[in-house]
Amino acid sequence: KRLVVLVSGSGTNLQALLDAIAAQGPEAYGAEIVAVGADRDSIAGLERAERAGLPTFVRKVKDYESREAWDAALTEAVAAYEPDLVVSAGFMKIVGKEFLARFGGRFVNTHPALLPSFPGAHGVRDALAHGVKVTGCTVHFVDDGVDTGPIIAQGVVEVRDEDDESALHERIKEVERRLLVEAVGRLARDGFRIEGRKVVIP
Ligand code: GRF
Repeated sequence: KRLVVLVSGSGTNLQALLDAIAAQGPEAYGAEIVAVGADRDSIAGLERAERAGLPTFVRKVKDYESREAWDAALTEAVAAYEPDLVVSAGFMKIVGKEFLARFGGRFVNTHPALLPSFPGAHGVRDALAHGVKVTGCTVHFVDDGVDTGPIIAQGVVEVRDEDDESALHERIKEVERRLLVEAVGRLARDGFRIEGRKVVIP
């Protein structure tokens, strides 16, 4: 299976996928990353892709006269690589109708909270502020909401009294990287069905 991965930051989730595929081989893992895209320049995620010899592309919202035009450009850039699955690994933009029309049902996102709790761009901060005792991460299909699509996998992380946002997020990311690698591999190797809100992996 062909993966395109979208990033906006440090790219440690992308790196976990790259390392797993290199260690297992694309055949055994069930997928290979064919390109990495971003919504901004000069991020470690793009450097990680370049170091792995992968093609990269950047589509910045501010370069387009409308959000819809950006969405169309992102869709076209991703479609050029003919992916079977698109993975958002810390991609911090909400895609639009055209992208979902093209890749909906095979667009996977990872979120650093136990959805449906704490969706949005500050899931770790919101969980900490709420005083939860456990939080975690969620791998899910992207639908037309924000972090509302059918859930594929979740992992639990305990919150410690001394945690601040970055300490907790780093601990979540340790679980998240493994969860994403495992989930994407299973989807690629075993296939899947989405039945309403349920994701069925045979
Ligand atoms: C991940 O925790 C992701 O869930 C969140 O931002 C983080 C991205 O980390 N949206 P990285 O860029 O993969 O290191």
